[in-house]
Amino acid sequence: MDSEKILEEVKGILKKDIDKDEKLKHICELLVDDVEHYDWVGFYLVKKGRLVLGPYVGEPTEHTDIGFGEGICGQAADMEETFRVQDVTKEDNYLSCSVDVKSELVVPIFKYGEVVGELDIDSHEESPFTDEDERLIEDICEEVAEVL
Ligand code: SME
Repeated sequence: MDSEKILEEVKGILKKDIDKDEKLKHICELLVDDVEHYDWVGFYLVKKGRLVLGPYVGEPTEHTDIGFGEGICGQAADMEETFRVQDVTKEDNYLSCSVDVKSELVVPIFKYGEVVGELDIDSHEESPFTDEDERLIEDICEEVAEVL
């Protein structure tokens, strides 16, 4: 994957004259298309203190409304830090979306020091996520914060 190119494309999407949800959806599409080990990509947005599913690409999920502390998404929001889980079978506090998912990367989106959302990546591979993935998704979340 070419992180620099992907980040530039994300910046281009965010500058477009389209609504916020369309921008987020385009970013999900870009990531699923460009990165082979990203199989489900979606945004959760904080509404009334809960993580509510926003634009995503991939299989529909039953986890559309997650409390802070619940699952990997909820833990990342609660701890205010990136969660990189290379093997979801080893994680007790995990909300399964599909048996195909083997690993997950969740990065909080901060605005004015508060978690306002997350970018969640599921992979069908075990241990696919590197420091480069983490940096790229964190950089994307910083850019996305501007439109939230
Ligand atoms: N696996 C997540 C739930 C969201 S789905 O991956 C789309 C979790 O444990 O929080």
